[in-house]
Amino acid sequence: MQVITDPIELQQQCMQWQREGLKIGLVPTMGYFHDGHLALMKKARPLCDKLIVSLFVNPTQFGENEDLDKYPHDFEGDKAKAEAQGTDILFAPEKSAMYEADHATWINIPSLGEHLCGASRPVHFQGVCTVVTKLFMLARPDVAVFGQKDWQQLAIIRRLVRDLNIPVEIVGQEIVRESDGLAMSSRNAYLTEEERAAAPAIRKGLLKAADMIQSGERTAQAVKDFLKKEYASTIPMGTVDYIELVDPNDIVPLKTITGPALAAVAIQVGKARLIDNILIEV
Ligand code: PAF
Repeated sequence: MQVITDPIELQQQCMQWQREGLKIGLVPTMGYFHDGHLALMKKARPLCDKLIVSLFVNPTQFGENEDLDKYPHDFEGDKAKAEAQGTDILFAPEKSAMYEADHATWINIPSLGEHLCGASRPVHFQGVCTVVTKLFMLARPDVAVFGQKDWQQLAIIRRLVRDLNIPVEIVGQEIVRESDGLAMSSRNAYLTEEERAAAPAIRKGLLKAADMIQSGERTAQAVKDFLKKEYASTIPMGTVDYIELVDPNDIVPLKTITGPALAAVAIQVGKARLIDNILIEV
């Protein structure tokens, strides 16, 4: 596995592979790999000839009071894990290599970023869309894999690729969970023992919400009220950022559930902002 830090070197290598007719796969990440990241790499590996994993803690998707400076990292560990998954290139640029001091071009899809994480993290999706577009321009992937834990991000990237005619297939990977149901996240490392013990209740609540809907409940507010009460008792140290039922493609809140619904939650538990979701078919 090659480690490349220079964006232009990556681009030249990928253009060469394109000329040779090789299929390129991309897994964009911010590092500190857990099994969720490895599942993205495993999914991408058979879909391409050359697998690129990017490792870049993208500063433009963090708000002022967020955890950019504290974001966990383990470059040597990540390198070994990416290599073990058959990665051809680990792309790990410096911030200054990705953003000129006078960087001025931004990509944004305000309508899809209005709710859920976009509501409480106003610059987040603009930063994600911009960096992902840059990664697409550099790596020229035929296929790129993103996790469904960040469902809104995945919906936004699908729309970005469609609207800008970017020739890449976007593949979603199901959420990878700990044995007690907690969705894997690099931010789980911030949890204290007590917080970690309470955190699986996030998933349990979502499963109960899905049951309610599958048993006939059609009023979104009733499901949200149920989840609010549930989390107040099961995660008393948590602060709910949002509990929402949205259309899974447009990420617009639903009042009445008449088709597929995404139940999505974000809860601040100590220093960790935990998100999870469940797609409910009716
Ligand atoms: O999901 C992530 O880890 C990031 O948002 C991404 C897609 C790598 C962009 O920085």
